[in-house]
Amino acid sequence: MSNDVELINSNPQHIAIIMDGNGRWAQKRHLPRIIGHNEGVKSAHKMIQYCTEKKILALTLFAFSSENWRRPKEEVSMIMSLFISTLEKELEKWHQQGIRFLCIGDKTAFSEKLQQVIAHSEKKTQYNQGLTLTIAANYGGRWDMKQAFQAMSKQILTGELNPDSLTETDIDKYLTTAKLPTLDLFIRTGGEQRVSNFLLWQLAYAELYFTSVLWPDFNQAKLEEAIICFRGRQRRFGHTEAQILNNQSQ
Ligand code: FPP
Repeated sequence: MSNDVELINSNPQHIAIIMDGNGRWAQKRHLPRIIGHNEGVKSAHKMIQYCTEKKILALTLFAFSSENWRRPKEEVSMIMSLFISTLEKELEKWHQQGIRFLCIGDKTAFSEKLQQVIAHSEKKTQYNQGLTLTIAANYGGRWDMKQAFQAMSKQILTGELNPDSLTETDIDKYLTTAKLPTLDLFIRTGGEQRVSNFLLWQLAYAELYFTSVLWPDFNQAKLEEAIICFRGRQRRFGHTEAQILNNQSQ
């Protein structure tokens, strides 16, 4: 039986979150949507601190999807400014805490300034051994697979890659999440129950957790609830329940 089965009832090693509900949180209070995003950043900080304390290996946050460019220009520009100011403000603290920062997505669409801040943050923290904090920005799961297929096709054409011997593990290496552990727990706040083109390939065996709590109201206690729920799930990875129970009793 594979080692995967031993993951039952342990903490997730990699958590990914769709941070949904900032706009509605603000609207309920008759505030501009950007105030909701500001509060959303505070929730993100709480998650980062929790995962650092609990020694979770990786936290991946969906900050901006490939489709979010369709929002009003002003909101897009404010989210971008928030991204820059958050990185500038938090980087030193994250570095001190051993956090390794990564940004996945098509960064070419970002301003020079944002690209520079991201590159600097990734470089400064690249050898850190603590939590890997990944921000998915201008990210889409299909885009991730597309860029992987393009890279693989080029190597097939040059003869560096043999398509007949390609394994699923090889494909993992071409995705932007190559440096991350297997995704265990996917959380979406804000009440919608869909994956919205997030980590499509990586979600294959992740446990899904949906909550109606709006992202700015999501705190450490709520994350703990999600983790407790995760720990109570039986992860079978294709095995039967009897096999799992038999394995556990050995
Ligand atoms: C979804 O809420 C949220 C976003 C599209 C943006 C999230 C961005 C941040 C929290 C800032 C970036 C964070 C870091 C750590 C740099 P929504 O606006 O879709 O909410 P709604 O569904 O209620 O309208």
